[in-house]
Amino acid sequence: MVVAAPVSKKAIRWTGLAYGSGINVTAACGKVILITEGRSQAILEVKVAVITRGAAGIGKTTAILFSQQGCKVVIADIQDDLGHSVWNEIGPETSLFVHCDVTKADDVKNAVDKAVSRFGKLDIMFKNAGIIDPSKVRTTDNEIADFERVLAVNVTGVFLGKKHAARVILPGKQCSIINNGSISSVMGGLVSHAYVASKHTVVGLTKIAAAELGRLGIRVNCISASATASPLARNIFESDDDEIERRFTGMNSLKGVTLIAQDTAVAAIYFGSDESRCVSGHNFVIDGGFTVANTSFSIFNQLEKIKLTQGSCCLSGDPLSKNNIKPWKNSLVYNVAKVLILLPLNMYF
Ligand SMILES: NC(=O)c1ccc[n+]([C@@H]2O[C@H](COP(=O)([O-])OP(=O)(O)OC[C@H]3O[C@@H](n4cnc5c(N)ncnc54)[C@H](O)[C@@H]3O)[C@@H](O)[C@H]2O)c1
Repeated sequence: MVVAAPVSKKAIRWTGLAYGSGINVTAACGKVILITEGRSQAILEVKVAVITRGAAGIGKTTAILFSQQGCKVVIADIQDDLGHSVWNEIGPETSLFVHCDVTKADDVKNAVDKAVSRFGKLDIMFKNAGIIDPSKVRTTDNEIADFERVLAVNVTGVFLGKKHAARVILPGKQCSIINNGSISSVMGGLVSHAYVASKHTVVGLTKIAAAELGRLGIRVNCISASATASPLARNIFESDDDEIERRFTGMNSLKGVTLIAQDTAVAAIYFGSDESRCVSGHNFVIDGGFTVANTSFSIFNQLEKIKLTQGSCCLSGDPLSKNNIKPWKNSLVYNVAKVLILLPLNMYF
């Protein structure tokens, strides 16, 4: 797969991520075009997508990138002003704004039906809407209303999106349902009880939907990113975008890249496109390796001792480093073994 991306500071950071995702990237001026070898059209050409909470944050970024891939996009959101502005930005010919509260079955049904009546079909349902409540250290301080509000959007919203998408998506037509999870779908302790519970449940809903809809040739996958600058993140971390990126990038195992909304959007393009034709039921984590290593108990805690030498890296605590071989060579066992094995061999040959 080849991605031609606009040259900008963000795009350059994004192309770095796309390489990590196994997508081959070349930078060029102009709009973003994804082309598989031999493919002459944008990767989502002729597709129609509904994106919940498409008016801002990760959803807006995805809506814009989807449209740049030739996709017709329905922006489903509760924030009408923002929704109309994204609709204008993308263009009324190729997009549509629909007011949609994902906790209301009628709203979700309406968004899906509008996609079909305006653009003729639905190929991709990106259930992106999700909220978070303030984290409380003690469960006793948690309000049940906060808990239920988060579950209503993050869980019931995902369920309703699948229910109504499945009603109109055509079997056997390379259609795709994508849920937006979070790294809180694979670990606890990062944020609130409600958010962690809801995102773990999103993975469960992904699997049951993949099992059910797989029989009709419909793929269902989940994308789980780490902290990403967005209105939601600014609100919960009480920080600006730069501070959020700086704080969380520093925690990742993978150095030199910063997670941004485009990273989720590019993954959504992959899962929405025919490139992922044989991929279903996955929870695709995008976190710069944050969840794969517990850095509080790690041999790599001594990172500051890394010495970079001519392209190779040598850690002083590394058991294979030359520093660690010396004590072994001085040991009695080594020297007795040397005499017993090497001396007879030398004499023989
Ligand atoms: N930002 C992150 O750090 C991050 C990381 C991983 C995953 N995610 C997930 O990505 C998705 C989008 O996150 P974001 O950070 O772009 O969010 P965001 O900044 O767009 O904020 C969430 C917004 O959802 C909207 N919303 C609230 N209730 C709604 C409802 N009932 N129906 C429709 N919309 C409603 C609100 O307008 C709210 O501002 C969410 O599912 C989130 O859990 C976010």
